[in-house]
Amino acid sequence: MAYPQPYLSLLDEVGALLTSEPRREGAETARALLATPQPTQVKPEPPCLFDAAIQSCLDGSDDPLARALLAAQDLLPWGVNPVSDRMTPDAAAMIAVLTLMGPEGPVPSPFFRLGFVYMAPWSYYPLHNHDADETYVVLAGRALWTAGDDTRERGAGSMVHHPSLMAHAFRTYDEGFVALWRWSGDINTESYTFLPDPQIIVA
Ligand SMILES: [Fe+2]
Repeated sequence: MAYPQPYLSLLDEVGALLTSEPRREGAETARALLATPQPTQVKPEPPCLFDAAIQSCLDGSDDPLARALLAAQDLLPWGVNPVSDRMTPDAAAMIAVLTLMGPEGPVPSPFFRLGFVYMAPWSYYPLHNHDADETYVVLAGRALWTAGDDTRERGAGSMVHHPSLMAHAFRTYDEGFVALWRWSGDINTESYTFLPDPQIIVA
């Protein structure tokens, strides 16, 4: 199946970035993405709620994958967080998630999940964990990033690895962020758990 050029360029940039990760699972995910045909046609998608905000965030970045993502934006099925049923409506409304590969597609893989996330300015994604090993690469914008005991600001080019069950959380200030994410290992979603979080004050 012939893909539109912006989508092909996006796949190439994702593959290059994943292959640069110093873990074999990064290159394995890249190979799966590039070798597995998508069973459905890649065609223009309706804009998501955050479409203008995502474009604005990406437009401020020189990262090659951010540029490729921006160029392919109207071909990509950005949607809601797949685990939004476990979040408060306010928390679920602050992010958009795009899945490129996983057991449910659009590129099918029984072993890996891969996609992008956008998080709006002035928001907090609470402490959570899951069975899967996970790597994020920030492509545009920035966030205060908690990965286990390590909390620091992460901007474009930052690669952060969360081993299985490591607690992680993100806080944005005056700009949001766009990041690539990938899962390997045990990629079940049932283990995705929001944890007791000292940043959350329960009235
Ligand atoms: Fe995660």
